[in-house]
Amino acid sequence: MTTKEHLILGIESSCDETAAAVVADGRRILSNIVASQNDIHRKYGGVVPELASREHLRQIVPVVREALEQAHIALRDVDAVAVTQGPGLVGALLVGVTYGKVLALSLGKPLIAVNHLEGHVHAVLLEARAAGREPQLPAVCLIVSGGHTILYHVTSEPANGASRFSYTRIGGTRDDAAGEAYDKVARMLGLGYPGGPIIDRLAPHGDPHAVRFSEPKMTGNPYDFSFSGIKTAVLYHLRKHPELEPEIEARRQALARGERSADALRSLSSAATLDLVASFQRAVVSNLVAQTFAATEIHTARSIFVSGGVAANSELRRSFESESAQRGIEVFFPSRALSTDNAAMIAAAGHARFLAGDRADSTLNAEANLPLT
Ligand code: KG4
Ligand code: ZN
Repeated sequence: MTTKEHLILGIESSCDETAAAVVADGRRILSNIVASQNDIHRKYGGVVPELASREHLRQIVPVVREALEQAHIALRDVDAVAVTQGPGLVGALLVGVTYGKVLALSLGKPLIAVNHLEGHVHAVLLEARAAGREPQLPAVCLIVSGGHTILYHVTSEPANGASRFSYTRIGGTRDDAAGEAYDKVARMLGLGYPGGPIIDRLAPHGDPHAVRFSEPKMTGNPYDFSFSGIKTAVLYHLRKHPELEPEIEARRQALARGERSADALRSLSSAATLDLVASFQRAVVSNLVAQTFAATEIHTARSIFVSGGVAANSELRRSFESESAQRGIEVFFPSRALSTDNAAMIAAAGHARFLAGDRADSTLNAEANLPLT
């Protein structure tokens, strides 16, 4: 006898992606729709909260409809609605929370509140399970994106015949998130927005040892991060090298003409710029890897998870993989599609809470600073 799979509709609107997904039993993605607002925020070099909320309002209904259509299910087939409650931009979150609440209440289905960061953890679990691998816990999870750079200790214990996950914060950034540093440096260099993917593509063409950046000096919690220093160091480097200014302007103009490809931008970049890009990336990546492994050792974790937009970075993946092979600890990444914000991860996290018996009600509200516990 086969038991019926639980179908969870996930809804995510915490930042600049309106997303909806249907996931069966926390492991099988039936649909995963993401409407990105990159084109809207690009000209401002970052997310503009008012524009994000307005766009979520425009997108939420068609995105949810498309998620159901692609999954070939009707709303009544859904077993629960899981929605991101926070952290994030409050106006953006409110769109998803309100819509999720109305859907669940009108359908008479359970409503599950999900922490966005917990979603990033479950992006890893979802795909590992889909591949037939069950990661060993406790794990240390590095969530590294445009909004967050944070390390959690992840454990689970039995609950209602399922698992309840717990999260303890080990450390986090005191200033910029790593993705924010990528975006700001890309902006200074005339490489457009978002900065991570283009820096990822250009860095292999430069010498990562050409420019030296000093390690951030952390007092207090040794597992904290700081990325504002490196951003300022890039700014000072550019001031010291005014000869790089014309090519920065040339790249800005190319972007304004819509020439955004890595090849186009690379052809407008000198060796000195490519060296700077490569050195910046190496400094950020080696810091992320070193802090995560230090935390893993102190917490005797059995696996490492790396999730969030910056987890899509090629050098970050390579560094983690080679370090983990040397140390004999398994590292798990989501696919690139599940590294950045999406709703499949919210549905997967929602499924674990659904099984553990967690339910939200009509009083559910968006929380911009919701902590993960
Ligand atoms: O998780 P995400 O989609 O949204 C946030 O919650 O922030 O992450 C977006 C961030 C941006 O800062 C972007 O520049 C960065 O992730 N990013 C990357 C890469 N792809 C996206 N950073 C480095 N390398 C990449 N390949
Ligand atoms: Zn995120």
